[in-house]
Amino acid sequence: MPDLLPPPGFPARRLRRLRRTPALRRLVAETALSVDDLVAPLFVADGLDAPRPVGSLPGVVQHTVDSLVVEARRLVGLGVPGVILFPLPRPEDKDATGSAALAPDGITMRAIGAVRSAVGDDLVVMADCCLDEFTDHGHCGVLDPGTGDVDNDATVELYADLAVVQATAGAQVIAPSGMMDGQVAAIRTALDRAGQTGTAVLAYAAKYASALYGPFREAADVTIVGGGDRKGYQQDYRNRREALAEVALDVAEGADMVMVKPALSYLDVLADVRAAVDVPVAAYHVSGEYAMVKAAAERGWIDGPAVALEQITAVKRAGADFVLTYFAAELAEVLGG
Ligand code: PBG
Repeated sequence: MPDLLPPPGFPARRLRRLRRTPALRRLVAETALSVDDLVAPLFVADGLDAPRPVGSLPGVVQHTVDSLVVEARRLVGLGVPGVILFPLPRPEDKDATGSAALAPDGITMRAIGAVRSAVGDDLVVMADCCLDEFTDHGHCGVLDPGTGDVDNDATVELYADLAVVQATAGAQVIAPSGMMDGQVAAIRTALDRAGQTGTAVLAYAAKYASALYGPFREAADVTIVGGGDRKGYQQDYRNRREALAEVALDVAEGADMVMVKPALSYLDVLADVRAAVDVPVAAYHVSGEYAMVKAAAERGWIDGPAVALEQITAVKRAGADFVLTYFAAELAEVLGG
């Protein structure tokens, strides 16, 4: 019944006109994902002879220091502006306090130093500031012998020391991910006292206790003792307003940038945070989010590259200025440098 339709001049007839051609769609697109928005997470393990693939993260490896440098150079060539490094100790070097993280010639120093001397300022080198990779119990800090819980204040002291080691090695951005109270203020103060006033802090401000970190634990060789979890320090995924409280505190403590993590299940949080603060906002598209796309694509159930582009663009649309993603190199190849 054509006479029932609104006439051509009506607003209801407007929307499809601007979707007619690729050029029209490009012209009116609200969000443009660029290679400039990407940060690649990289793992580097002490004592490896050759890069070791991570089964649950196809395309991701534990690097040797040498292969890490090669990958960093490749990312520069692709135009990716940043990496976040996860140095991992030899299994036998793990202990109750994660002391190997701070070792003077340990993997933290060597990996960050090697990347910085190879790429200089062409790549922003970020360091995840946490201890779970280095503790034998797999928690993000030291445990209180009485309660068995993570001891907030003792852990924050160690994070401050680790941040100084990372900055001294050449990291330009320190990214505390342990969700301890007061960690940003302590790290900022320690960096300033060490003369590292130019080193920025990217706070994992709203970090949820998420089952989506599963493949990361394989990549980082982390097992939480007794089948435990991080619900005592990371956020409860039922909470939205709480993220704004976390972010406000971190900004007040001196965070230069804040992060929401994971990304896709938390786009509401990301949009809230974007509206609430003026500092740059990052989002971490985490290991489980990447693994789900890769697994479904391997089975031919989805078009992996198309879904990756859609997902990371959606994270930007929701409010992220940049995205930490295991798809960084793949997307850079598509987006061009
Ligand atoms: C802590 C840390 C984790 C991730 C980044 N930093 C693990 C955790 O909190 O349990 C997860 C990242 C991912 O899943 O991709 N060092």
